Amino acid sequence: MKLKHLFILAASAVLSAVAFLACNCDGNSCSDDASAKDAAKVKPLVVYWTWSETHNTKVVAEMLQQKTGADIALIEMVTPYPNDFGSVMQLGQRDLQQPKAPAIKEMNLDLSKYDPIYVGTPIWFSTYAPPVRTFLQSYDFKGKTVALFCTHGQGNPATFKYLADAKAAVPAINFFPEVFAHKGTEAANAGPALDAWIQKVSAK
Ligand SMILES: Cc1cc2nc3c(=O)[nH]c(=O)nc-3n(C[C@H](O)[C@H](O)[C@H](O)COP(=O)(O)O)c2cc1C
Repeated sequence: MKLKHLFILAASAVLSAVAFLACNCDGNSCSDDASAKDAAKVKPLVVYWTWSETHNTKVVAEMLQQKTGADIALIEMVTPYPNDFGSVMQLGQRDLQQPKAPAIKEMNLDLSKYDPIYVGTPIWFSTYAPPVRTFLQSYDFKGKTVALFCTHGQGNPATFKYLADAKAAVPAINFFPEVFAHKGTEAANAGPALDAWIQKVSAK
């Protein structure tokens, strides 16, 4: 009887050990796929560009960062646009007519650590500001969801071409189909609408 008990105990210990190794256990939980653990380490990233002195897009970007626990990065131009509106109207239109302009500074982003990636712009001429297009053209977003957000002036968000132009510029990117748009002068009040949109992006 004693021997039988010992045999049963030894056999179940061996089986537990085999199951432990096969399951890639870390002592607290088991996963039969190590990559599932890597996926769990992926976090959101917020990337944005801003120009006006009130930095409306930055206000929304920081709110997004705080709400999602994301890392955050600012797109910076090699040669920043000047501060006066007249020059920026000219230079912005000029750059939008180029296939890839203006140049932006190296950001040293390791995108393998992030998903989704939120990309924010002020609306210029009903679309993205040119440095944001350069950013989208500069990295490999394979396997990532890119969710676009923007702040704007008096324009009607339904007419904005941010998503359509981004898709045309970088067809390989998997864009979330709904752009978050908020009036720049009311950026500080974006919270509730932002919450609803984040939920949709997270449920993708
Ligand atoms: C060159 C330029 C073009 C703009 N074009 C538009 C536009 O087409 N539609 C719109 O609603 N707002 C337009 N705006 C207003 C900005 O989108 C808005 O003020 C935005 O919140 C600014 O964001 P920022 O503070 O992050 O730069 C334009 C602003 C500038 C400077």
